[in-house]
Amino acid sequence: MEPITPAAEAKKVMLSGIQPSGNLHLGNYLGAVKNWAELADQFDCYYFMADLHSITVRQDPKALRARTLELLALYIACGLDPEKNTLFIQSHVHEHAELAWVLNCYTMFGELSRMTQFKDKSAKNSDNINAGLFAYPALMAADILLYQPDFVPVGQDQKQHCELTRDIAIRFNNLYGSTFKVPEPYIPKVGARVMSLSTPTSKMSKSDPNGCVFLMDTPEDISRKFKRAVTDSDTENCVRYAPAEKPGVANLMSIYSSVTGKTFEEIEKEFDGMGYGKFKPAVGDAVVETLRPIREEAQRILADKAYLQQVYTDGAQRATYVARKTLRKVYKKVGFIEKPF
Ligand code: TRP
Repeated sequence: MEPITPAAEAKKVMLSGIQPSGNLHLGNYLGAVKNWAELADQFDCYYFMADLHSITVRQDPKALRARTLELLALYIACGLDPEKNTLFIQSHVHEHAELAWVLNCYTMFGELSRMTQFKDKSAKNSDNINAGLFAYPALMAADILLYQPDFVPVGQDQKQHCELTRDIAIRFNNLYGSTFKVPEPYIPKVGARVMSLSTPTSKMSKSDPNGCVFLMDTPEDISRKFKRAVTDSDTENCVRYAPAEKPGVANLMSIYSSVTGKTFEEIEKEFDGMGYGKFKPAVGDAVVETLRPIREEAQRILADKAYLQQVYTDGAQRATYVARKTLRKVYKKVGFIEKPF
Protein backbone atom coordinates (compact mmCIF):
# COMPACT_ATOMS: atom_id res chain seq x y z
CA MET A 1 0.00 0.00 0.00
CA GLU A 2 1.30 3.42 -1.02
CA PRO A 3 1.88 6.14 1.55
CA ILE A 4 -0.91 8.69 2.09
CA THR A 5 1.08 11.48 0.49
CA PRO A 6 2.82 10.42 -2.73
CA ALA A 7 6.44 11.56 -2.89
CA ALA A 8 5.63 13.88 -5.81
CA GLU A 9 3.53 16.18 -3.64
CA ALA A 10 5.58 15.63 -0.52
CA LYS A 11 4.48 17.35 2.65
CA LYS A 12 6.83 17.61 5.60
CA VAL A 13 6.91 14.37 7.57
CA MET A 14 6.14 14.03 11.26
CA LEU A 15 6.49 10.90 13.39
CA SER A 16 5.94 9.97 17.00
CA GLY A 17 5.36 6.94 19.17
CA ILE A 18 3.74 6.20 22.50
CA GLN A 19 4.56 3.17 24.60
CA PRO A 20 1.60 0.94 25.39
CA SER A 21 3.07 0.28 28.82
CA GLY A 22 0.51 2.48 30.55
CA ASN A 23 -2.89 3.90 29.78
CA LEU A 24 -3.24 7.23 28.02
CA HIS A 25 -3.93 10.09 30.46
CA LEU A 26 -5.07 13.71 30.41
CA GLY A 27 -1.45 14.91 30.21
CA ASN A 28 -0.83 12.82 27.07
CA TYR A 29 -4.07 14.11 25.59
CA LEU A 30 -3.82 17.85 26.30
CA GLY A 31 -0.05 17.96 25.89
CA ALA A 32 0.28 15.84 22.76
CA VAL A 33 -2.41 13.80 21.03
CA LYS A 34 -5.02 16.58 20.88
CA ASN A 35 -2.59 18.80 18.99
CA TRP A 36 -1.50 16.01 16.67
CA ALA A 37 -5.03 15.70 15.32
CA GLU A 38 -4.74 19.21 13.90
CA LEU A 39 -1.47 18.52 12.08
CA ALA A 40 -2.84 15.93 9.66
CA ASP A 41 -3.63 18.33 6.84
CA GLN A 42 -0.35 20.13 7.06
CA PHE A 43 2.00 17.18 7.53
CA ASP A 44 2.40 13.57 6.52
CA CYS A 45 2.01 11.99 9.98
CA TYR A 46 3.07 8.60 11.35
CA TYR A 47 2.09 7.49 14.85
CA PHE A 48 2.82 4.10 16.29
CA MET A 49 2.32 1.99 19.40
CA ALA A 50 5.88 1.38 20.59
CA ASP A 51 5.41 -2.21 21.76
CA LEU A 52 9.04 -3.14 21.10
CA HIS A 53 10.07 -0.45 23.56
CA SER A 54 7.60 -1.64 26.19
CA ILE A 55 9.29 -4.96 26.80
CA THR A 56 12.45 -3.25 28.08
CA VAL A 57 10.55 -3.50 31.36
CA ARG A 58 8.56 -6.63 32.19
CA GLN A 59 5.01 -6.68 30.85
CA ASP A 60 2.15 -9.05 31.33
CA PRO A 61 1.61 -10.32 27.75
CA LYS A 62 -2.17 -10.25 27.93
CA ALA A 63 -2.24 -6.76 29.37
CA LEU A 64 0.27 -5.55 26.77
CA ARG A 65 -1.94 -6.82 23.95
CA ALA A 66 -5.02 -5.19 25.47
CA ARG A 67 -3.29 -1.86 26.03
CA THR A 68 -1.84 -1.78 22.53
CA LEU A 69 -5.31 -2.05 21.01
CA GLU A 70 -6.75 0.36 23.55
CA LEU A 71 -4.09 2.89 22.67
CA LEU A 72 -4.91 2.58 18.99
CA ALA A 73 -8.64 3.00 19.70
CA LEU A 74 -7.87 6.05 21.83
CA TYR A 75 -5.66 7.62 19.16
CA ILE A 76 -8.58 7.37 16.76
CA ALA A 77 -11.12 8.57 19.33
CA CYS A 78 -8.90 11.57 20.10
CA GLY A 79 -9.21 12.62 16.48
CA LEU A 80 -6.33 10.93 14.66
CA ASP A 81 -8.16 9.96 11.52
CA PRO A 82 -6.64 6.73 10.13
CA GLU A 83 -7.44 7.92 6.61
CA LYS A 84 -5.23 10.95 7.10
CA ASN A 85 -2.58 9.59 9.46
CA THR A 86 -0.56 6.40 9.28
CA LEU A 87 -1.30 4.53 12.52
CA PHE A 88 0.56 1.31 13.11
CA ILE A 89 1.97 -1.14 15.62
CA GLN A 90 5.76 -0.98 15.81
CA SER A 91 6.37 -4.75 15.92
CA HIS A 92 4.40 -5.17 12.66
CA VAL A 93 7.09 -3.31 10.74
CA HIS A 94 10.13 -5.51 11.27
CA GLU A 95 12.39 -2.90 9.67
CA HIS A 96 12.42 -1.15 13.07
CA ALA A 97 14.20 -4.06 14.74
CA GLU A 98 16.52 -4.53 11.78
CA LEU A 99 17.63 -0.92 11.52
CA ALA A 100 17.99 -0.82 15.31
CA TRP A 101 20.59 -3.59 15.08
CA VAL A 102 22.57 -1.67 12.49
CA LEU A 103 22.37 1.55 14.46
CA ASN A 104 23.50 -0.26 17.61
CA CYS A 105 26.81 -0.60 15.82
CA TYR A 106 27.01 3.17 15.30
CA THR A 107 25.98 4.16 18.82
CA MET A 108 28.60 4.39 21.51
CA PHE A 109 28.53 2.78 24.94
CA GLY A 110 29.43 6.16 26.45
CA GLU A 111 26.52 7.89 24.72
CA LEU A 112 24.00 5.34 25.95
CA SER A 113 25.45 5.48 29.46
CA ARG A 114 24.71 9.19 29.63
CA MET A 115 20.98 8.88 28.88
CA THR A 116 19.04 10.11 31.89
CA GLN A 117 16.07 7.86 31.13
CA PHE A 118 18.37 4.82 31.28
CA LYS A 119 19.76 5.96 34.61
CA ASP A 120 16.25 6.56 36.01
CA LYS A 121 14.77 3.33 34.72
CA SER A 122 17.69 1.19 35.80
CA ALA A 123 17.47 2.69 39.28
CA LYS A 124 13.77 1.79 39.38
CA ASN A 125 14.22 -1.71 37.92
CA SER A 126 17.49 -2.74 39.50
CA ASP A 127 16.63 -6.43 39.16
CA ASN A 128 16.23 -6.17 35.38
CA ILE A 129 18.80 -3.83 33.84
CA ASN A 130 18.74 -5.58 30.47
CA ALA A 131 20.58 -4.82 27.25
CA GLY A 132 17.35 -3.69 25.61
CA LEU A 133 16.85 -1.01 28.23
CA PHE A 134 20.37 0.19 27.58
CA ALA A 135 20.08 0.11 23.77
CA TYR A 136 16.57 1.60 23.72
CA PRO A 137 17.73 4.94 22.23
CA ALA A 138 19.20 3.14 19.19
CA LEU A 139 15.79 1.53 18.59
CA MET A 140 14.16 4.92 18.95
CA ALA A 141 16.66 6.36 16.45
CA ALA A 142 15.70 3.55 14.05
CA ASP A 143 11.97 4.28 14.55
CA ILE A 144 12.58 7.85 13.57
CA LEU A 145 15.21 7.62 10.83
CA LEU A 146 13.34 4.94 8.84
CA TYR A 147 10.69 7.52 7.90
CA GLN A 148 13.05 10.42 7.09
CA PRO A 149 10.88 12.80 9.13
CA ASP A 150 11.39 16.54 9.35
CA PHE A 151 9.93 16.76 12.85
CA VAL A 152 9.52 14.49 15.86
CA PRO A 153 6.87 15.75 18.30
CA VAL A 154 7.94 14.68 21.77
CA GLY A 155 7.83 15.86 25.34
CA GLN A 156 10.78 17.41 27.09
CA ASP A 157 11.73 14.01 28.57
CA GLN A 158 12.51 12.61 25.09
CA LYS A 159 14.64 15.52 23.90
CA GLN A 160 17.89 13.83 24.86
CA HIS A 161 16.93 10.77 22.80
CA CYS A 162 16.10 13.00 19.83
CA GLU A 163 19.48 14.67 20.09
CA LEU A 164 21.21 11.30 20.14
CA THR A 165 19.17 10.33 17.06
CA ARG A 166 20.53 13.39 15.28
CA ASP A 167 24.09 12.51 16.32
CA ILE A 168 23.69 8.94 15.04
CA ALA A 169 22.24 10.17 11.73
CA ILE A 170 25.04 12.67 11.24
CA ARG A 171 27.67 10.06 12.11
CA PHE A 172 26.20 7.59 9.62
CA ASN A 173 25.84 10.24 6.90
CA ASN A 174 29.46 11.30 7.39
CA LEU A 175 30.66 7.72 6.97
CA TYR A 176 28.49 6.67 4.03
CA GLY A 177 27.16 9.83 2.40
CA SER A 178 23.70 11.30 2.79
CA THR A 179 21.37 8.51 3.96
CA PHE A 180 19.19 9.91 6.71
CA LYS A 181 17.38 13.20 7.06
CA VAL A 182 18.47 14.80 10.34
CA PRO A 183 15.18 15.51 12.16
CA GLU A 184 14.25 18.33 14.53
CA PRO A 185 12.42 17.74 17.79
CA TYR A 186 9.06 19.50 17.67
CA ILE A 187 7.86 20.80 20.99
CA PRO A 188 4.49 22.35 20.10
CA LYS A 189 3.77 25.97 21.02
CA VAL A 190 0.26 25.14 22.08
CA GLY A 191 -0.49 22.32 24.47
CA ALA A 192 -0.52 22.35 28.18
CA ARG A 193 2.03 20.76 30.47
CA VAL A 194 -0.36 18.97 32.79
CA MET A 195 0.84 18.40 36.34
CA SER A 196 -0.19 15.75 38.84
CA LEU A 197 -3.40 16.55 40.75
CA SER A 198 -1.88 15.24 43.98
CA THR A 199 1.70 16.53 43.56
CA PRO A 200 1.30 19.61 41.34
CA THR A 201 5.04 20.20 41.15
CA SER A 202 5.60 17.04 39.10
CA LYS A 203 4.26 16.06 35.70
CA MET A 204 1.05 14.04 35.57
CA SER A 205 2.21 10.45 35.37
CA LYS A 206 0.72 6.98 35.39
CA SER A 207 3.08 6.07 38.25
CA ASP A 208 1.09 8.42 40.53
CA PRO A 209 -2.47 7.15 39.86
CA ASN A 210 -4.24 9.39 42.39
CA GLY A 211 -2.96 12.48 40.66
CA CYS A 212 -3.49 11.09 37.18
CA VAL A 213 -6.70 11.18 35.14
CA PHE A 214 -6.81 8.38 32.59
CA LEU A 215 -8.83 8.86 29.42
CA MET A 216 -10.72 5.64 30.15
CA ASP A 217 -11.57 6.63 33.76
CA THR A 218 -15.26 6.68 34.63
CA PRO A 219 -16.89 10.09 35.26
CA GLU A 220 -17.12 9.17 38.96
CA ASP A 221 -13.38 8.50 39.16
CA ILE A 222 -12.58 11.74 37.35
CA SER A 223 -14.82 13.79 39.63
CA ARG A 224 -13.36 12.19 42.73
CA LYS A 225 -9.77 12.89 41.60
CA PHE A 226 -10.57 16.54 40.96
CA LYS A 227 -12.41 16.97 44.25
CA ARG A 228 -9.32 15.68 46.04
CA ALA A 229 -6.87 17.73 43.96
CA VAL A 230 -4.24 19.55 45.97
CA THR A 231 -4.70 23.32 45.78
CA ASP A 232 -2.36 25.24 48.02
CA SER A 233 -1.35 25.34 51.62
CA ASP A 234 -2.29 28.99 52.27
CA THR A 235 -5.74 29.94 53.41
CA GLU A 236 -6.43 32.42 50.65
CA ASN A 237 -8.99 30.10 49.01
CA CYS A 238 -9.08 32.28 45.91
CA VAL A 239 -8.79 31.23 42.26
CA ARG A 240 -5.83 33.27 41.08
CA TYR A 241 -3.11 32.34 38.58
CA ALA A 242 0.19 32.33 40.50
CA PRO A 243 2.13 29.22 39.42
CA ALA A 244 5.08 29.74 41.78
CA GLU A 245 3.00 30.24 44.93
CA LYS A 246 -0.04 28.17 43.99
CA PRO A 247 1.07 25.43 41.60
CA GLY A 248 -2.01 23.28 42.29
CA VAL A 249 -4.45 26.07 41.47
CA ALA A 250 -2.42 27.10 38.41
CA ASN A 251 -2.51 23.52 37.15
CA LEU A 252 -6.29 23.28 37.60
CA MET A 253 -6.67 26.62 35.85
CA SER A 254 -4.55 25.55 32.94
CA ILE A 255 -6.50 22.28 32.60
CA TYR A 256 -9.77 24.22 32.73
CA SER A 257 -8.44 26.70 30.18
CA SER A 258 -7.34 23.88 27.86
CA VAL A 259 -10.70 22.13 27.89
CA THR A 260 -12.96 25.22 27.78
CA GLY A 261 -10.81 27.63 25.76
CA LYS A 262 -11.24 30.31 28.46
CA THR A 263 -8.36 32.60 29.41
CA PHE A 264 -6.97 32.78 32.94
CA GLU A 265 -8.59 36.19 33.41
CA GLU A 266 -11.96 34.85 32.41
CA ILE A 267 -11.51 31.95 34.81
CA GLU A 268 -10.54 34.24 37.70
CA LYS A 269 -13.68 36.28 37.04
CA GLU A 270 -15.92 33.26 36.73
CA PHE A 271 -14.86 31.94 40.15
CA ASP A 272 -14.44 35.28 41.87
CA GLY A 273 -15.36 34.88 45.53
CA MET A 274 -16.31 31.23 45.17
CA GLY A 275 -13.30 29.40 46.60
CA TYR A 276 -11.83 26.02 45.78
CA GLY A 277 -14.90 24.13 46.97
CA LYS A 278 -16.76 25.32 43.86
CA PHE A 279 -13.77 25.54 41.53
CA LYS A 280 -12.44 21.98 41.84
CA PRO A 281 -15.71 20.20 40.98
CA ALA A 282 -16.27 22.63 38.11
CA VAL A 283 -12.91 21.68 36.58
CA GLY A 284 -13.81 18.03 37.16
CA ASP A 285 -17.14 18.45 35.37
CA ALA A 286 -15.51 20.19 32.40
CA VAL A 287 -12.96 17.38 32.09
CA VAL A 288 -15.69 14.72 32.43
CA GLU A 289 -17.59 16.31 29.54
CA THR A 290 -14.44 16.61 27.40
CA LEU A 291 -13.45 13.00 27.95
CA ARG A 292 -16.94 11.47 27.76
CA PRO A 293 -17.20 11.40 23.95
CA ILE A 294 -13.58 10.20 23.66
CA ARG A 295 -14.14 7.34 26.09
CA GLU A 296 -17.41 6.33 24.45
CA GLU A 297 -15.92 6.45 20.97
CA ALA A 298 -12.88 4.43 22.10
CA GLN A 299 -15.18 1.80 23.65
CA ARG A 300 -17.20 1.62 20.45
CA ILE A 301 -14.03 1.19 18.36
CA LEU A 302 -12.57 -1.38 20.76
CA ALA A 303 -15.67 -3.51 20.35
CA ASP A 304 -15.17 -3.49 16.57
CA LYS A 305 -12.13 -5.74 16.29
CA ALA A 306 -12.46 -6.09 12.50
CA TYR A 307 -12.25 -2.33 12.05
CA LEU A 308 -9.23 -2.05 14.35
CA GLN A 309 -7.51 -4.82 12.48
CA GLN A 310 -8.20 -3.06 9.21
CA VAL A 311 -6.67 0.15 10.57
CA TYR A 312 -3.48 -1.44 11.84
CA THR A 313 -3.10 -3.58 8.73
CA ASP A 314 -3.35 -0.56 6.41
CA GLY A 315 -1.06 1.40 8.68
CA ALA A 316 1.61 -1.31 8.77
CA GLN A 317 1.47 -1.67 4.99
CA ARG A 318 1.93 2.04 4.41
CA ALA A 319 4.67 2.29 7.01
CA THR A 320 6.47 -0.74 5.57
CA TYR A 321 6.52 0.84 2.12
CA VAL A 322 8.54 3.77 3.44
CA ALA A 323 10.63 1.85 6.00
CA ARG A 324 11.79 -0.74 3.45
CA LYS A 325 13.22 1.91 1.18
CA THR A 326 15.39 3.35 3.92
CA LEU A 327 16.49 -0.04 5.23
CA ARG A 328 17.53 -1.17 1.72
CA LYS A 329 19.61 1.94 1.31
CA VAL A 330 21.29 1.34 4.66
CA TYR A 331 22.02 -2.35 4.00
CA LYS A 332 23.59 -1.43 0.69
CA LYS A 333 25.72 1.33 2.21
CA VAL A 334 27.15 -0.84 4.98
CA GLY A 335 28.08 -3.57 2.50
CA PHE A 336 25.41 -6.28 2.73
CA ILE A 337 24.68 -8.28 -0.44
CA GLU A 338 21.34 -7.25 -1.92
CA LYS A 339 18.62 -9.84 -1.34
CA PRO A 340 17.53 -11.11 -4.79
CA PHE A 341 13.96 -12.07 -3.77
N1 TRP B 1 10.60 6.77 23.83
C1 TRP B 1 9.31 7.39 23.67
C2 TRP B 1 8.65 7.55 25.03
O1 TRP B 1 8.95 6.79 25.93
C3 TRP B 1 8.42 6.60 22.76
C4 TRP B 1 9.02 6.46 21.42
C5 TRP B 1 9.58 5.33 20.90
C6 TRP B 1 9.13 7.48 20.44
N2 TRP B 1 10.04 5.57 19.65
C7 TRP B 1 9.79 6.87 19.32
C8 TRP B 1 8.76 8.82 20.40
C9 TRP B 1 10.06 7.60 18.17
C10 TRP B 1 9.06 9.54 19.24
C11 TRP B 1 9.71 8.94 18.14
O2 TRP B 1 7.84 8.42 25.20
